[in-house]
Amino acid sequence: MSKRSESRLEEIQNLEPSVDEFRADVIEGLSETQKTLPCKFLYDERGSQIFDEICDVPEYYPTRTERLILERHARDIAALTGPKARLIEFGSGAGTKIRLLLRALERPAAYLPVEISREYMIAAAQDLARSFPDLTIAPVCADYTQPFTLPDIPEAEHEATLGFFPGSTIGNFTRAEAVDFLKVTHDLMGSGAVMIIGVDLVKDLDVLRAAYNDAAGVTAAFNLNLLRRINRELGGTFDLSAFRHEARWNEELERIEMHLVSLRDQEVAVGTHRFRFHEAETIHTESSHKYRIEGFHQLANEAGYEAIEVWTDEKKLFSVHALRARQES
Ligand code: AVI
Repeated sequence: MSKRSESRLEEIQNLEPSVDEFRADVIEGLSETQKTLPCKFLYDERGSQIFDEICDVPEYYPTRTERLILERHARDIAALTGPKARLIEFGSGAGTKIRLLLRALERPAAYLPVEISREYMIAAAQDLARSFPDLTIAPVCADYTQPFTLPDIPEAEHEATLGFFPGSTIGNFTRAEAVDFLKVTHDLMGSGAVMIIGVDLVKDLDVLRAAYNDAAGVTAAFNLNLLRRINRELGGTFDLSAFRHEARWNEELERIEMHLVSLRDQEVAVGTHRFRFHEAETIHTESSHKYRIEGFHQLANEAGYEAIEVWTDEKKLFSVHALRARQES
């Protein structure tokens, strides 16, 4: 990295969830009648890498479809904010899609990636700093579903704020959580800010099921990695060969659910806690809600945003929305 790009990469603000929080959430989730684990814990370093692999499997259409939409409309997005915008990305991951926006924006004031996976975020931010040496990058390691503050960057005076939440990660929240999350972003960015958000659409069920049950087994590895993480970080005794991945469509809630199915009656320890599993009992590890455009507009409206634009692909697989944060009354 050049001296200049190094000086532009601000110190990382670290609000990463602790092992204690992870343990508490795992024990609480495994104690419920329908055992659950919060999907945010799927993304340790290995989980983030596997997720990147998912994005490239042929059946997983969201990533490439969203990229296509963003490629087509990056200039339209830039026109909505004008020059010197500070760009806040929620759940920045590998930092690939942001490049499309950064190239289209006129003199962006700063880039603030917010990401739960610290190591992963540092690597992505360093990589980006090499490609955009004049850009101020201020990474924040945080669980963005909880209120948090943004670092103050006095040298990066901005004239507009652009939020970016790609990948249909909003689908991993329940509807109520999605409204709460959007309210958090509204408070954080202020009224007038533009939010660009990727939202996966309800579609043919075969297409949906295949996307979460790819033939190469990458999604299965992603799901099972959560048990490996529990074993490593919390002293768990999960036998990974005694569980299998399953993706189910929940018709009522219009969502794909990822489960880990116990292949036999068994007992598993997590530290000093013990959990019994019957054969075929499942741990629900993730929900991926699919939306209809009008339904998503309603949700955004409840959170204080006005829908200003929506772009989709020809097959209507995926949508990218531009929302504007309304003045609070
Ligand atoms: C990150 N998120 C939007 C992905 C999804 O499609 O719900 C996570 C994922 N889970 C399985 N495959 C991909």
